[in-house]
Formats: sequence, structure tokens, C-alpha cells
Amino acid sequence: MENVKITSLDSFARGITKVKDKICFVSHALPLETCEIKITNEKKNYIEAEATKIIEESKYRIMPLCPYYESCGGCHIMHYDRQSELIFKEEKVNDLIHKFGKLDSVRIKDIIGGQDYFYRNKLTLHGNKNNIGLYKEKTNKLIRVKECLLCNEKINEIVDRLNKYFEKTSDNIDEIVIRITSLNETMLVIKGNVNESIKEAFSDINSIYINNNLVLGKESITEVINELFFEIYPNSFFQVNYEMMKIMYNKVIDYYKDHKDLNVLDLYCGTGTIGMLISKYCKSVVGVEVNSDAITSANRCMKRNNISNIKFHLGKVEDKIDMFSNIDSIVVDPPRAGLDKHTIDTILKLNPTSIIYISCDPATLARDLGVLKENYNIKEIQPIDMFPNTYHVENVCILERR
Ligand SMILES: C[S@@+](CC[C@H](N)C(=O)[O-])C[C@H]1O[C@@H](n2cnc3c(N)ncnc32)[C@H](O)[C@@H]1O
Repeated sequence: MENVKITSLDSFARGITKVKDKICFVSHALPLETCEIKITNEKKNYIEAEATKIIEESKYRIMPLCPYYESCGGCHIMHYDRQSELIFKEEKVNDLIHKFGKLDSVRIKDIIGGQDYFYRNKLTLHGNKNNIGLYKEKTNKLIRVKECLLCNEKINEIVDRLNKYFEKTSDNIDEIVIRITSLNETMLVIKGNVNESIKEAFSDINSIYINNNLVLGKESITEVINELFFEIYPNSFFQVNYEMMKIMYNKVIDYYKDHKDLNVLDLYCGTGTIGMLISKYCKSVVGVEVNSDAITSANRCMKRNNISNIKFHLGKVEDKIDMFSNIDSIVVDPPRAGLDKHTIDTILKLNPTSIIYISCDPATLARDLGVLKENYNIKEIQPIDMFPNTYHVENVCILERR
């Protein structure tokens, strides 16, 4: 046990200090706090620790609303007030882009923040026999929960009902995903040894799958964005924060409203949301996505929305990207790992006039912009608080060819 003074936060919202001449990361500690710490992990170059007692408290520290905050670990920054959380995220993006991407002169816009609780339209619960709950971060220790404050209230009503339902069964649950759309359509995707009679107790749910078989209702649930309809299937990606997703998509739409009639490549297109939303301003759009549920959904929605200038390709971006030519503009929205070398090299060869890079990890965004900056000016980086109460932050970045 020793007392330390925290100087700042790292990108995972851990307090930074020095112990034994090494950098030390203290979970749940805030800048300018003095705390007593317990070392949990010591490596050659760094130390990880927990704050066992806060001796001098930050004036921005607040009481976390969630009773599971300390045990669950899904949220990282609920003990910091909202304004400080947004400043932390802005500074994180600035630091990573400027220092890591060596893009000192790029100005980053003020973060757009929104509702900080009840925003998620998807919750994954894990199971242990007939108990359900969340896994403690980086473990498979089950934390039973009555609700998750990040999730839509209707999801929490379903969690409560599921808890009560399973208490009376001898089912063996592996995982349950609950999804809801802005049209209030709900889906349960259940894995495990679960009796089909659950569908009687949950007959109000629009779609229930057990072990990949549809046992109740329809195959997909419907979402609507800017008057276009999208179908969400059990295994396909869909943005989890509806309000912030619309802000993000509208940034992309605004760009193509101002730059009409382009041939656009939409890489990592998911269910084709971006491609369909921009299609009326484009000459053509081609989407590439690895998830077959997402591509099935994209093709069906294209027909339902009467869109004829889009084509979707199923496969990995890195395997498909060589087949394209005459591309004026590229949208990329990769997973956290960012772009692989072959994809970046091919994007540079395709030489589009603009690239819109949507990223959920500013560290890999900074790395990739560090390569793309050789040929492209970074016109704009817009951080969006897509995941309040966690250290994650989304960015939309517009690049134009020099
Ligand atoms: C962040 S999501 C973006 C989806 C979409 N743009 C949206 O807004 O809904 C990333 C998507 O990339 C897909 N993906 C992951 N790795 C891929 C790869 N190597 N090639 C193609 N798609 C990939 C995932 O299945 C997921 O749908």
C-alpha cells in the first residue's frame, strides 16, 4: 500500500502516476486525486493498481448511479461528471491524433455529446445454469443484474422478466442478446439448452431465436433512419446508440449532398445503412461486408427502399478491394483494429478524391491517418460520444486528396 498523486488519465480512463520509477495506471482514480493504492500487476515497464482509498478527492468525482459499477467493469468513467467525461474524450482524441498520428496541425472539432444513460439498443447477457447476468470485465465471472443503466428502458423490463422467468426453470443458458429498435420492435437471440416454451411467456417479443432457429415471430426487426427502412438480423452489426448514430450518418450524408454524383465504395458496410442513406446523392455505391446476415439484410432493404444504384459484395474487404476501379470516394467504417496494410495500400492506389473514415478507436484512426496523410488533407475530425460512461469514442474524419 502506498499513497500517490494522480496526474492525468490514460486512454482507458485510468489514473496515471509514478511508482518505483515506473508509469503506474490506477483504475477508477481521477486527475489531482491523492489515493492509497494496491498493486495488482507489475511488469518490467509499467504497474497496474487499484485505488483502495481516495485521500484527496477530485471535485469532479461523482457517485456512480449503477450499483454494479465496481463489480461489472463494462463502464469505465461513471465516477467522473458528465462535462469532465466529454473533456476527457476530446483530450484523448487530440492526444492520439496529434502525438501518435503526428498530425500536429489538424484541428479536432468539439465533441458532440448526447443522452448519457438508457441509450443502448442492444444488451448481451451471459448465462450460468439458469442464472443470467453480465460478465465481470475480462473474466467469465457472472454478475447477476436487474438492469443495465446504459440500456433502453424496455430492454431493462425484458431483463427483469427474463430473471423472473428463468428462476422457475432448469434451463441452461449460454447467452441471450436483447435488441430493440426505435419502432419498439424487440428481438431475443438465445443460446443454450433452453426450452422452447419460453416463447409463450415472451409472446409479445417480435422475434425469438433459440440456437440459431427462429422459434417465434419474424426473421428480423425493423429500424428506420431518415425514412429508409433497415432490417436487423440476429448476427448482423447495427450501431447501438440510435440518436448518436443519426448524427454520425448525417455528417456523412451532408458530405455527399455537397459532392454529388460520385461513384462511392462503402467498405465494412454492415447492413448497408450508410450506402443506402447516401445513394440518392451518388452515381453509384458499392458495399463490401464479411457478415452474410448483414449482406442478406442489405439486399432486401435495398429493394424495400427502392434503391437501384447499389451493389453489395459479401467477403473480406482485404480480399475484395482489388476488384474495384473508377472509384471517386471511399467510406470506411472498420472494426477497432482499423485498416490492414493491403487495404490502405489499395485505397491509395484507387486514389479517390475523398475518403470518409468512421472509427470507433482513435488509436488505430491516428495510425491509419499517419499513412493516408501523405496524399490526403485531413479536412475535419468530428468526435461523437457514441458510448457514454465508457472510455470509447467514435470519430468521423473527412479526407480530401491533395
Ligand atoms: C463498425 S461496423 C460498421 C458497419 C456499418 N458501416 C454501420 O454503420 O452499420 C464494422 C463492420 O465491419 C464488418 N467487418 C469486420 N471485419 C471485416 C472485414 N475484414 N471485411 C469486411 N467486413 C468486415 C463487421 O461485420 C461490421 O459489420
